[in-house]
Amino acid sequence: MDLFEYEAKELFAEYGVPVPKDKVADTAEEAREITAAYAAEGTPQVVVKAQVKTGGRGKAGGVKLADGPVDAYEKAQRILGMDIKGHTVHKVLIAEATDIKAEYYLSFLLDRANRTFMSICSVEGGVEIEEVAHSNPGAIARIPVSPLTGVDHAKALEIINAGRIPDEAAEQAALLAERLWAMFTDEDATLVEVNPMVLTPDGRVLALDGKVTLDDNAAYRQDHGRFADASATDPIEARAKEKHLNYVKLEGEVGIIGNGAGLVMSTLDVVAYAGEQFGGIRPANFLDIGGGASAEVMANGLEIVLSDPSVRSVFVNVFGGITACDAVANGIVSAVALLTERGEEVNLPIVVRLDGNRAAEGRAILQEANLPVVEQVDTMDGAARRAAELAAAAPAKGA
Ligand SMILES: Nc1ncnc2c1ncn2[C@@H]1O[C@H](COP(=O)(O)OP(=O)(O)OP(=O)(O)O)[C@@H](O)[C@H]1O
Ligand SMILES: [Mg+2]
Repeated sequence: MDLFEYEAKELFAEYGVPVPKDKVADTAEEAREITAAYAAEGTPQVVVKAQVKTGGRGKAGGVKLADGPVDAYEKAQRILGMDIKGHTVHKVLIAEATDIKAEYYLSFLLDRANRTFMSICSVEGGVEIEEVAHSNPGAIARIPVSPLTGVDHAKALEIINAGRIPDEAAEQAALLAERLWAMFTDEDATLVEVNPMVLTPDGRVLALDGKVTLDDNAAYRQDHGRFADASATDPIEARAKEKHLNYVKLEGEVGIIGNGAGLVMSTLDVVAYAGEQFGGIRPANFLDIGGGASAEVMANGLEIVLSDPSVRSVFVNVFGGITACDAVANGIVSAVALLTERGEEVNLPIVVRLDGNRAAEGRAILQEANLPVVEQVDTMDGAARRAAELAAAAPAKGA
């Protein structure tokens, strides 16, 4: 999960990484009020910064210096609603303007290729590091950081010196690096980047910008829920996640439910291929119900898939292994009953293909249940074709 700059800086502040005074605003009026309060404290100059999860905001006109509350209002009004590389600006950060003597670059990241952590440091900051890598590769230091020994003061100085940060800033920059490393490890980040890290004329070193990527695999041991960006996630995906289902929304019309990621992946291919015959019908989602296809898991899965308004038919593709097909068949029967009970009548065609462990028993259970919405097809290709055909024939939901 990537953080907004204002969230990154909240974490910076928690770890003692120095940042300018700032506050986030949703409206131009708020931007004016925040600036008025800063002006009353003696700092009328602020920087109005677009909060979007993409780089190059400054170049796109999303970072502007403002002189007092009225100017901040005007700049915020111009920046809010702006589109930066496909990201709409909903918030601006109002940061106290800092006098800058020099701009540097510092980051920690997970270096997957070398199976270690790495720090990148450069005396040339403020521009994109990729640009520096191109124009002046010698100005960038890449220092491996062992996860076992981490970054103590000596290591931090090694990083800062390798980046050729001048002596007047070195001690403070090293302190900043140590704290940034503490944050990187304690928060389970895979990237923390400070660009620019600046030196002020009075000799302080501050983080003027922050990019943080947190490792979602560590979410269970972190308190990062507060950073969840509801506006950026698909609502159906969010509900699936709550139910611990492995679901990805796609663009098509055939809802897919299968057991095992590999099987579901190939089901997507087979449905897309079969769908070509029916005017370009495509899979509507990826949903892997995993090993234990209990009635409840099946009901949750069906509910999620059916709640997608673009779904016109469903293909349940199961290859029985440890989870036997008769259990899956029972799951489907109870799921349909459960959904009907919840008042969510199942009225879309469901094509079921059962194969593998106890397939015959599973098919018999479905035959006997005789659900009007369920149709069985014995082969994967045949079932995919039938599901695509039904989707092509069905009117769109709500139409
Ligand atoms: N609080 C501040 N005071 C003074 N100048 C600032 C402040 N914040 C940013 N700047 C100036 O604006 C430049 C761009 O700001 P920043 O790095 O935050 O955005 P950006 O680099 O354009 O965005 P991104 O990092 O998304 O590409 C900085 O290099 C710095 O010169
Ligand atoms: Mg920047």
